[in-house]
Amino acid sequence: MDISEVMRQTAATRHYEPKDVDNEVLYRVLDSARFAPSGGNRQGWRVVVVKNADTRKAISDLYQEPWNDYVAKRYGPLENLPPDRRAKVIESNTFAAQIFTIPVHLAIWIDMSVVEVTDINAGRPSVVGGGSIFPFVQNFQLAARNEGLGTRITTLLSHREKEMQKLLGVPDGYALAAVVMVGWPTKLVTKLTRNPVEDFTFVEKFGNPIEAPK
Ligand SMILES: Cc1cc2nc3c(=O)[nH]c(=O)nc-3n(C[C@H](O)[C@H](O)[C@H](O)COP(=O)(O)O)c2cc1C
Repeated sequence: MDISEVMRQTAATRHYEPKDVDNEVLYRVLDSARFAPSGGNRQGWRVVVVKNADTRKAISDLYQEPWNDYVAKRYGPLENLPPDRRAKVIESNTFAAQIFTIPVHLAIWIDMSVVEVTDINAGRPSVVGGGSIFPFVQNFQLAARNEGLGTRITTLLSHREKEMQKLLGVPDGYALAAVVMVGWPTKLVTKLTRNPVEDFTFVEKFGNPIEAPK
């Protein structure tokens, strides 16, 4: 696929075929993802590929409470939502309850000893901390899409990092960046909803609009 097409069509997949993903394909995707940049080229990513059904169920169980907390915080009581929004949240809840059925869960960790958190003293939560791992995650998702695979990332399992560490035998010193679920989609989404360039890009000073080329 053309790179622009891949970037525009890597959706957060919700519906998967109950079909394994060959290790050969996963290896190929990881072999592209590894060309991601990282601070000082330290490449602190460590990936645990989980296919075992019991482990996926355990991961899924760990996900439910953080998911429910997130939904409650973001949306409040479902009965207060307009019907279309409520239907979407219910669909998301159904997805959440079934993530164990997705054939591959990829737990992506980062070796914290190689991460330079340059905004550690900024007096707000760090955003730079993720800079040496999320390019890898995105590369993985793009390369997977290029193979026709669907993926969906969650960062909610970091609320259960200790449990995840124990479950997957991860030594101390590694932080859980994300879990990416991977499988063959029942339907490939090709149209994503995103804001136009003019909504987020300014020229010279924040607030000065950029013009779209004629
Ligand atoms: C950092 C991050 C965390 C996310 N966490 C979750 C999650 O916990 N559960 C989930 O179902 N989707 C999660 N997503 C997927 C987003 O909901 C999805 O990317 C967004 O709604 C856009 O979806 P689309 O690409 O299909 O348009 C996450 C995405 C990102 C980038």
